[in-house]
Amino acid sequence: MNEPIERAAAELADEPSVLVCAGSGLSAESGVPTFRGDDGMFRDPDIARLTHVQTFASDRKEMMRWYQERREKLDTLQPNPGHLALIELCRTGDYTIATQNVDHLLEAAADEVGYRPPIHHLHGSLLVVRCHKCGNAFEDLSLDLVKLPTCERCGGPLRPGVVWFGESLPADALQKSAEAAERADVCIVVGTSGLVHPAASLPQIADQRGATLIEINPNPTELSDICDIVIRGKSGEVLPALAEKIV
Ligand code: APR
Repeated sequence: MNEPIERAAAELADEPSVLVCAGSGLSAESGVPTFRGDDGMFRDPDIARLTHVQTFASDRKEMMRWYQERREKLDTLQPNPGHLALIELCRTGDYTIATQNVDHLLEAAADEVGYRPPIHHLHGSLLVVRCHKCGNAFEDLSLDLVKLPTCERCGGPLRPGVVWFGESLPADALQKSAEAAERADVCIVVGTSGLVHPAASLPQIADQRGATLIEINPNPTELSDICDIVIRGKSGEVLPALAEKIV
């Protein structure tokens, strides 16, 4: 048994505690562009600017136009076989998902499968709107952010409930994900380049605690060297194959 996927299945077979660290590659087969790589959004130099908190002050309308466009696309997206298989896998043990993705596709897959594992959004969610001044946050996809709406509570400017460069991650999501990393027997790193911290430090915490690290990615990443098992493939194909061996 030397196939990476066979070895990964063996690690996941006896109901281990698992932390799944997910990145944009998990949603790529649902038609959501990744950030880096040949066809990543960062090919456009403007995107790095539109994802920085300073731009909310300098070019709020342009920034909100880009985020509103992404928010309006959410309704057209469907979970792919990778999302669905990952939720099925979550049923077989103590799984926690820490995702860097701001889409709702893991939750949609959980609704479809009928099982909701703990899902922590380290970089927030496009479904959420938050007041930039008082932090008042709520889910509302009907709100058009290009109209520069203001907070009913304090009059502050409303913005998408995502984390921008130059901002801190939501403390609760990060803490719960770090706790899951500390107790993990296995850490699955799927669809992330492993370049952005502190999200990228979660697999390193699990590794330092002796967890087995499994990478699912068509390409090498910053984390490949610390992964014990590397499965070079698309998550929409690898996760279903893995789930088939375990579920
Ligand atoms: N299946 C699995 N992995 C894939 C697939 C796929 N079908 N397609 C692409 N990938 C991989 C790429 O090889 C790459 O390693 O997904 C990874 C995407 O990397 P990034 O675009 O850097 O995305 P991510 O790691 O999620 O970025 C982290 O950076 O810009 C910030 O806040 C943003 O949350 C984002 C963070």
